[in-house]
Amino acid sequence: MRSLRSGFSPASLLTGAATLVTLGALLVAAPAAQAADTPLRDLAAAKGKAIGTAVTGSKLTGTYGDIAGAQFNWLTPGNAMKWETVEPSRGTYNWAEADQIVAFAQAHNQQVRGHTLVWHSQNPDWLENGTWTPAELSTLLQDHISTEVTRYKGRLAAWDVVNEPFNEDGTYRSTLWYNGLGADYIAQALTWARAADASAKLYINDYNVEGVNAKSTALYNLVKSLKERGVPIDGVGLQAHLILGQVPATFQQNIQRFADLGVDVAITELDIRMQLPASEAKLTQQAADYKAVLDACVAVSGCSGVTVWGFTDSDSWIPDVFEGYGAATPYDENYVPKPAYHAIATALGGTTTPPTGACTATYGVTSQWNTGFTGQVRIACSGAALSAWRVSWSFGAGQRITQAWNATCTQTGAAVSCVNASYNGTVPNGGSVTFGFNGAWSGSNPVPAVTVG
Ligand code: G3I
Repeated sequence: MRSLRSGFSPASLLTGAATLVTLGALLVAAPAAQAADTPLRDLAAAKGKAIGTAVTGSKLTGTYGDIAGAQFNWLTPGNAMKWETVEPSRGTYNWAEADQIVAFAQAHNQQVRGHTLVWHSQNPDWLENGTWTPAELSTLLQDHISTEVTRYKGRLAAWDVVNEPFNEDGTYRSTLWYNGLGADYIAQALTWARAADASAKLYINDYNVEGVNAKSTALYNLVKSLKERGVPIDGVGLQAHLILGQVPATFQQNIQRFADLGVDVAITELDIRMQLPASEAKLTQQAADYKAVLDACVAVSGCSGVTVWGFTDSDSWIPDVFEGYGAATPYDENYVPKPAYHAIATALGGTTTPPTGACTATYGVTSQWNTGFTGQVRIACSGAALSAWRVSWSFGAGQRITQAWNATCTQTGAAVSCVNASYNGTVPNGGSVTFGFNGAWSGSNPVPAVTVG
């Protein structure tokens, strides 16, 4: 029997053999820069909260800059203020990226969280590899803090003065500073920072301290004792590098106990990583997790706000460090807001408006022979965008899918469900994605009604 159709003819997809459907249930709003939704920063301001993001200075143009400026009222330099960046050789300073970020923030009426003055990581080689007496180390640290804090005096709202001082069991981490100067390096650093800028709020910042546990209790006891000693400590930063589905049950309780000590609490580095590829179910869980974090901060008056550690998956540290994990931020790599973005907005009192545009799927048979056929589905978005998709239909004449590409298709009885591959979940506004399949048929091969499910 001869082939009824051979080869792919685009026209065949647009004739009566094609079916148009709207993927309403899977719609994600268009990039916020184009959306009518109230920006996160306005929602946060109405609640008296900060909503921030870590940024990379060199990227603050184009869409990245537009979103950073429009959606957030706080910025944290992701790397630009770390010691290895600002003083790569002893006595040689490089303030370019830090200055750029501070200028951007001022131009966009944003506050800046300085990050970070005293850490065991991202220190310059000359410092790490040097041999220092305690007195020399103390002088080096005081000079570093005085120089950097003075440079931005009056322009930064907060400083992460000391970063990650604890081990998981609540003992002090063995670092250049702890080993050389003892635990009091923390009090000294805070005191030097206050001397250089009386107005910036001074924080200690750490990870895995979001719930009540040995590490957060050690931090709690430290802050309590610093307060009792009159050491300048204004806030505690809970980094919140979280894993999908694992927001600690004691998160709000923990925020509250720090607030009850009389310090501000900030969520300073929020991201929620998942095993790749992302799926609709994972993105939905992630949205719930983001909302839980925001809800906890909103519920405690002493929680000053939430900063995400990069707002787009294209600027996230996660894939570099946790192999196979990613998709941790509120926007995907193409700046499409994910369900997590809308969850943040909702937690801040916003109502997300449904996107005005639509994404449509077009089913077509591109070739057919005696027992088999090749089909194709094209998903196209206009005025909307997708960050994950699923196209479903029911075959009406016993057809069966035998093979699919650029999607994962499953068939149970007549019901077919195709979800995106790891690399093509995003359909940007104005863009399209196509997947194909081979199928078996006999008797007839009618075009199914394609639905969302
Ligand atoms: O700038 C160089 C570039 O020139 C070079 O080509 C490239 C090759 O790897 O490396 C670049 O430096 C990287 C730097 O980020 C800037 O992108 C470093 O390798 C990389 O290690 C560094 O990672 C940073 C990480 O801290 C280091 O621990 C992440 O960007 C930064 O987001 C992350 O942030 C920390 C917070 O400061 C503290 N809390 C944890 C958080 C995540 O680790």
